[in-house]
Amino acid sequence: MKNWYPKQLDLKVKLTNSDSINSSSSWGQIAYAIKYLIKEFNVKTSKAIEFGCEYGYSTSCMANYFDKVVAFDLFTGDKHAGLRENFKSTTESALSNFNNIELVQADCLNVELKKGEYDFAHVDIVHDYEPTFKAGSILLEADVKVVVFHDTLSFPEVYRAVNDLAKQYDCEIFNYPYSHGLGILIKK
Ligand SMILES: C[S@@+](CC[C@H](N)C(=O)[O-])C[C@H]1O[C@@H](n2cnc3c(N)ncnc32)[C@H](O)[C@@H]1O
Repeated sequence: MKNWYPKQLDLKVKLTNSDSINSSSSWGQIAYAIKYLIKEFNVKTSKAIEFGCEYGYSTSCMANYFDKVVAFDLFTGDKHAGLRENFKSTTESALSNFNNIELVQADCLNVELKKGEYDFAHVDIVHDYEPTFKAGSILLEADVKVVVFHDTLSFPEVYRAVNDLAKQYDCEIFNYPYSHGLGILIKK
């Protein structure tokens, strides 16, 4: 995976309305790079989808640049993020400063997407090989042009799944090497 670096950072990005969520998400400074990722890879900005929003930090970032963001989560966590009681209302409240985000409580690995509906996708679910590969397959088969995956550097299984998806779906592949790594797949 070749490293990708943004030429500029968007330090004015609006995030959730919770300082504790904004300072604790491991997505960290990826939030400052997304504007230029969209620009450099010519991503259309109508609709984005997210698999794994948790408390909404990455979701809030995406909502700055896309007209609409649809974010899926179980809202009960997973073995890597930690299992918890339903926390959807915490996420709703943290994102109440946005009016273009739809939160969906569902297993993202069971969703059926219409081809061409989404311009961009972010995957940040349980960091095992199979679910990551399946999530990427659902999105790439639905013709999402750019799909990004968090935790390529902290979870070797995510790194491997992203590499294998690039081969299977004939994608260009890059990695943003900060805040635990963001794999970037671009459909050729
Ligand atoms: C690492 S957290 C996401 C962090 C978030 N993107 C952020 O910016 O801070 C992973 C989330 O994925 C969710 N998750 C795990 N497996 C899932 C699945 N199959 N479908 C939907 N959500 C899932 C968990 O509930 C958890 O909230």
